[in-house]
Order: sequence, then C-alpha cells, then structure tokens
Amino acid sequence: MIKIAVMGYGTIGSGVSKTLEMNKEIITNNVGEEVSLKYVLDLRDFPGDPIEDKVVHDVNVIANDPEVSIVVETMGGTKPAYEFVKMMLESGKSVVTSNKALVAAHGTELLEIAASKKKNFLFGASVGGGIPIIRPLRTSLAQDELQEITGILNGTTNYILTKMKDEGLSYEVALSQAQALGYAEKDPTADVEGYDSCRKIAILSSLAYEKEANYEDIHTEGITKITNIDFQYANKAGMAVKLLATSRRVGDKFYAVVAPTMVDATCPLYSVSDVFNAVLVKGNIVGDLMFYGSGAGSLPTAAAVVADVIEVAKHPHCSVMRIWSREKLEFSDYKELESRFFVRFEGKSNKNAVIELLEPTKAYELEGMDEYGVVTKKMSQNAFEEALKKLDGVISVLRVH
Ligand code: HSE
Repeated sequence: MIKIAVMGYGTIGSGVSKTLEMNKEIITNNVGEEVSLKYVLDLRDFPGDPIEDKVVHDVNVIANDPEVSIVVETMGGTKPAYEFVKMMLESGKSVVTSNKALVAAHGTELLEIAASKKKNFLFGASVGGGIPIIRPLRTSLAQDELQEITGILNGTTNYILTKMKDEGLSYEVALSQAQALGYAEKDPTADVEGYDSCRKIAILSSLAYEKEANYEDIHTEGITKITNIDFQYANKAGMAVKLLATSRRVGDKFYAVVAPTMVDATCPLYSVSDVFNAVLVKGNIVGDLMFYGSGAGSLPTAAAVVADVIEVAKHPHCSVMRIWSREKLEFSDYKELESRFFVRFEGKSNKNAVIELLEPTKAYELEGMDEYGVVTKKMSQNAFEEALKKLDGVISVLRVH
C-alpha cells in the first residue's frame, strides 16, 4: 500500500480525497497497489468529514513519517507552501502540486532537489486544471521543436468575457456574477489583471523551451479596461475578445505576452466559453494541436493531481520529469512581434491619415456613436505605436489574433 498526505484541504485538496475514494479500484489497478490517504494537513479541523481522523496541524508529523512516500500540496501561494514542499523533498518524499505560484517562483530549485533524491516533483494541475497539457509537453511532444503556445489559461476572466459578449453585461456586472458563483475571488486582481495567466504561460514556456522563464519578464495586460462597446465592435466583426497568453519562438528569439485579444470566429479559441480553458500548441513536426477542458474546479483539478500521484507511485525511485536548465530564458521585446490591431477613433476625423499610416483592412461603425473602429494591417507593435503618435482621438486599442 502506498501512503500519501495532502497539505491544504480546500477546494482541490478535498477533491483529491474524494477522487481517491470514488475511483479507488481504478487507481489500485493502475498502480498495482492501493493508494491510501494517511494525513491531511490543515489549520482547521473537519468534524463530520470522512477525513476528520486524518487531520494533523504539524507539518513535521508528515515529514518524519517514513510510511508516507508521496505528498500532495494544494495549499496555494508560496508561503508556507515553498518551505513545506522543500522540507518534504529533502526528507526523501515525492511531491505533487497544483500550485502555479509555487512552480512559477521556485520550480527550478524544487525540480533539482527532487532529481538529486531520485524522487519527483510533478505539477500537472498547475496549468489548465484538468487539461493534460504539462505531461504531453514533456512526453508526447518531446520530439518536436515547439514554436508557439497560445492559451486561454484563466477560467474566471473567460467567464467574465463570455458574459460580456453573450449578454452585453458590463465588466463590473460580469465580475460580480463571477464572484457570486465562486469563480472569482473577493480580491480578483490576480485573475483580472492577468497575473494568473502570466504565471501559467511562464511554466509552459520553461517546459517548451527548456530554460527557466521568469514570469516577471512577461508583458501582462488584464481585462479591466474592456468595455461593452469593444464587444459591440467585436460582435459586428464576428470576433470575440479573449485573454490570451502567448509564447513564441521566432528564429532564435523568444517572446511572451498576456493581453486581451480579438479572436476571429475561424480560430478554435473563439468558441472556448465560460470557465473552460484551451491551449494551442504548434510544433515543427506535429503541426497544430489543441487541448481543451475544465481549467479549474475541484474534481477536474484533482484529476490532474491524482494522475501525477499515480505516475509517481509507478516510479518510486526515479525522476520522470525532464528538468529545464537553470539558464534564463531571455524574452525579446514583445513590441517586435507583428500583429494586427483593432483601434477605435473619436469622430470621423483622421480617416485619410489612418488609411495612410495603418493601412486598415476593415472598418466598422456603430449606429448612433460618434466614433469608428479599424483593423490595421499586420505590423510590429513598435511600428504601430509610432504611427499612433501621429493620430488624434484614439479611444482604445486591442490586438487581433
Ligand atoms: N483562478 C484560476 C482561474 C483558478 O480562474 O482559472 C485555476 O488556476
């Protein structure tokens, strides 16, 4: 029997315990022996819960118990998760986590400690919830040179943007609906400002390009300035606005950016709605792939955690995770990247200069509004910004995918 512990009995931790019970037979058949939950570490007690007798409040109980070989970390944040995970790895246990903040900030070091002990540090649930994306990147796509990863990596913002598009809600009303449904936190900053997506694309970039990507180097814009007028234009143009996290290899340069972007109906990301996530991957051999599924939620995320537990259980004495190098992944200036842009201008002025400088491929007007919008030709953000300096009355700008 394999004994495991769960640190943090919140949404995901309780989902892990439920999954181990619900699918006990399947998991036992896969591993070849039973996987049993021995401890739950939490500050709270859970009277009446099936795990009530397993609750401990002292992390040392788990670290010092040689029977526990795998520890699941579902606490979130880096304090005290980093200290606790390091302690578990150093005491010779494998760790499975769903914590993107921890992986984005300390992933390299934790992978190295695990490898030095011939143990595992796996984090399949840290990006895309239940979507299997981390494992395919390091196994099924090991033969490819990965050229681009573009994803809708945050369920909360995708829910808000879907409501704005489909129901014409304002950003504020859509956000409070998301909060009422428990999708958005009381303080929604990490989601709506794009920080959550930024950490996730940093993790995917490290895996894809095999160097340490620092999330602080990634240009990140959130969705707080998107208005329902932007959506009126998007609907008219047959597009949707999505918070896209992209990282790209162009020759020997790498770029990454997180920003709200207009997506055409022909793109598979257009129809990814509500709290769903999706990731498009482009490889030089395999071509285009798309991964789609529940990006958050108790059981979908627990599924990814338990899949990692099973993999660790099957490899008790070897590291299955390829480690990216400590070398820093240098991102070039995202403004060198080419894109089309959607620009709204006040009044009817500027039109000749707009045509000359931005060479728009499409123009749109909204009935009764003293403004218009254009989709520019493909140009670098640097060139676009230079052109914009010469134009008056700009209301807002969005990238077009
Ligand atoms: N806040 C995250 C989201 C949770 O909305 O996608 C999953 O990482």
